[in-house]
Amino acid sequence: MNPDFDRILDRRGTASLKWDFQKRLAGMEGLLPLWVADMDFPAPPEVIEALRQRAEHGVFGYTLEPESWFEAAASWTLARHGWRLQREWLLPCPGVVPAIRLAIQAFSEPGDGVAIQPPVYYPFGESVHRNRRRVVENPLLLEGTRYRLDAEGLEKAADGRTRLLILCSPHNPVARVWRREELERLAEACLRKKLIIVSDEIHCDLVLPGFRHLPTAALSGEIAGRTVTLLSATKTFNLAGLGGSLAVIPDPELRGRFRAAGKALWTDIANAFTLAASEAAWRHGAPWLEAVLAYVQANYRFLVEFLAQRLPAAVVFPLEGTYLAWVDFRPLGLTDAELKERILRKARVWLDDGPMFGAGGTGFQRINLACPRALLAEALERVVQSLS
Ligand SMILES: Cc1ncc(COP(=O)(O)O)c(C=O)c1O
Repeated sequence: MNPDFDRILDRRGTASLKWDFQKRLAGMEGLLPLWVADMDFPAPPEVIEALRQRAEHGVFGYTLEPESWFEAAASWTLARHGWRLQREWLLPCPGVVPAIRLAIQAFSEPGDGVAIQPPVYYPFGESVHRNRRRVVENPLLLEGTRYRLDAEGLEKAADGRTRLLILCSPHNPVARVWRREELERLAEACLRKKLIIVSDEIHCDLVLPGFRHLPTAALSGEIAGRTVTLLSATKTFNLAGLGGSLAVIPDPELRGRFRAAGKALWTDIANAFTLAASEAAWRHGAPWLEAVLAYVQANYRFLVEFLAQRLPAAVVFPLEGTYLAWVDFRPLGLTDAELKERILRKARVWLDDGPMFGAGGTGFQRINLACPRALLAEALERVVQSLS
């Protein structure tokens, strides 16, 4: 398997969020977009072939998940993460963010608290607000260039009406792959505070060599009984435009509540193309994924070396997982507005601004590394010139 990830594919004209909606979303055109977390690479060839075959059938009536789809998800999870999923634990959902919102509705009431750990993927907080729950912040702790989970902080922050913790594992945007001891301490704090853990593990397969993702629910039976794990093939294999996810809920009582929330919204019908694509990806996509991870790691090294030479004041944080680099521009002494003005307006490079991720995001930018090296190089050249 030797995919050509250097090849620049023109994504314009495919209704791509980051390439086709620049005017609407950023107010400008002609931007190099390295923000939203999808890849500028084609999906694995076996996925494209499965979609072609499904399209050629020509009939696209109502569909449901076949048993082979659940089996493919379970075999993948066992092979990659050593976690054995039981069939009855699995509930298909329209996506990971929809599943987070279902969990909020299933396990809390308006006005209840939901804990998040900023800087974190911004739809977490938004999901809480939009469902009229309270965001309870338990910021990550930063020591040098390393973030840590704050289990003690969570116990202090969670009041009697805090019902859930939305955990990001691996963590977008700080690119940490949480270790066993860190997760155990956090999960034990959740047990003591009677919090349900919604463990968003959408990035679990995107882990760099030398690191290992540990599913939260695999820590212990007791923790599994309080955890809703959210998985998806969409981030791993670049299928975000197809949607779909899987909630894994070992506890029957929690599963029943989650299922009832889904029934209330009629989230049952599956997308025929999602099913074809994700099953093929889980069955055949491993070599492609290894190639993507190697390419992302090489892009990360390129980023580190480029900034070390050209803008040594900027600090690239270690990338353990995800394909999203977290870069500290604070030593430049610019405000967030100035940084944005230079990068977006002057360099015409569209990154995700640190403050979007909440507390602790000031002065940072998130850079998507899942793109051809030439695009990354062009974007970095423009960013460096705008800041020099
Ligand atoms: C942590 C995290 N969760 C969820 C999502 C999106 O999931 P979905 O597209 O399935 O709603 C993303 C996308 O970047 C993400 O980074």
